Formats: sequence, structure tokens, C-alpha cells
Amino acid sequence: MKIVISSGAGISAESGITTFRDAGGLWENYPVMDVASDEGFARNPALVHKFYNERRAQLLQAQPNAAHIALAELEKKHDVRVITQNVDDLHERAGSTNVLHLHGELMKVRSMTHPEREYKLPCDQLTDKGIETTPDTRDSYGDQVRPHIVFFGEAVPNFDRATAMVNNADVVVVIGTSLVVYPAASLLQYAREGTKVFYIDPKPATVPSWVTVIAKPATEGVADFIKMLDEL
Ligand code: OAD
Repeated sequence: MKIVISSGAGISAESGITTFRDAGGLWENYPVMDVASDEGFARNPALVHKFYNERRAQLLQAQPNAAHIALAELEKKHDVRVITQNVDDLHERAGSTNVLHLHGELMKVRSMTHPEREYKLPCDQLTDKGIETTPDTRDSYGDQVRPHIVFFGEAVPNFDRATAMVNNADVVVVIGTSLVVYPAASLLQYAREGTKVFYIDPKPATVPSWVTVIAKPATEGVADFIKMLDEL
């Protein structure tokens, strides 16, 4: 079966990564337009670098949880593709081999002059050899680098690939997202008629009636979903 997973911050919550919009979430403590928008980056790049340095430090303390691991293991039986809004690498570290990041990757930076030059941190080709970067960090061409993150106000370059994947799926599973941020929130609308769509979230947003809602945390909800899959 062709299974497409569409994950958001909630799947990593049980790994200790703070979500954005839950109580105590990141956007309660940081003005989103200061640290995650193209305008904010132009205004105060040092603050934006610092914000993502802190996110990287948190990510290095985190491990994939049972939900990430169960989804990776599903590849033994099915054709599984993961589309994630998350910038963490927990799906990959759990063993998923087919992961498309819609909003960028925390452990990467890219050249501001040549965006196709991406660097996985830590990186010897940068003046800063660790996982922290600043507006003074340069690559070996002498160019400044920036977080490899899709800021608000920027296009989502992988979106067309994502809609094609959803359109080609037999089963779509949306996990741990408030379905607030577009275009990612519209992905489930690209499922073909007849595709089984599940949504796992302890506080689910309102979704169309053809979606099967599993109102549980990701670790439990994914286990339930896998049982349901065997019965499809
Ligand atoms: P949000 O923080 O908006 O939503 C997190 C969702 O996870 C909520 O619906 C929670 O109910 C759910 N949740 C919490 N704990 C959970 C658990 N243990 N298991 C499953 N779900 C749980 O995060 P996103 O929807 O991912 O973009 O946010 C989308 C985008 O907004 C992010 O990619 C980020 C942000 O601004 C950028 O920074 C570009």
C-alpha cells in the first residue's frame, strides 16, 4: 500500500521538542514575526540565528519516540513517504528513508548568495565549525549563510512534490498539526476520492467528515492506526 504521512510538531512533542501553538509553545515565548519571518530576519539576523541555535541545541538532546520508530518500521511492509512540516531530523534518525521537509531543516544552513549551496551542520566548510551560526558565519566562498528554514513570507518550494505524493496515496495519515499554517494545512485536500485519511492529534482541529480522527497523542495514535491498517 502507498502510505503518506503528513506530520507536524505534535509528533515530536513526546520527544521533548516544544510545539508552536500549544500552551507554553514557542510562539507564546517568541514573537513569531521576529524570529521566523523574512522581515524579522532582515531586521535582526543575529536574533534569528540565536533562535535557531537554541532549537538545534534542544534537538541534539532529543531522541525519536515510539511514533517516529513505528512509522519507520512500516517501511518493511508498505511504500511509506513522509511529508513533514517539522525542521527536526527525528523521522530520519528513527530510520525513515523517504522524508520531504516542507519548512526546511534545522541542522542545515545555506549560502545567502548561492542558495543551492547547503551545508549540514557541523560543517568544515564554514568559519564556525560547531552547530551555532551568526550573521558573521561564512562559507568557504566567503558568503554569509542563513538557517535553512522557510520563513513566513517565503514560498514553500517542496509543496508541489508534496501534493503529488498525497494525490498518489492509498492511505494518508496526518499527525500532530494544528492545521493552521498554509499551504501545508491544505495537503489533505489533495487526497483522491476513496483514499483513507486518518488524523492523529490529542486536540484535533476541525476536519471534513471523511477523515477518521484518532484523538490521542502520537505514540498511542500511531499504534492504533497500525492496527486499523491491518484491517483495511
Ligand atoms: P502547532 O504547534 O501549531 O500544533 C501542534 C499540534 O500538535 C497541535 O494540534 C497539538 O494538539 C498537537 N500535539 C500536541 N502534543 C501532541 C502529541 N503528543 N501527539 C500528537 N499531537 C500532539 O504545530 P504545527 O501545526 O506543526 O513553521 O505548526 C505548523 C508550522 O507553524 C510549523 O512548521 C512552524 C510553525 O510556525 C515554521 O516555523 C515555518
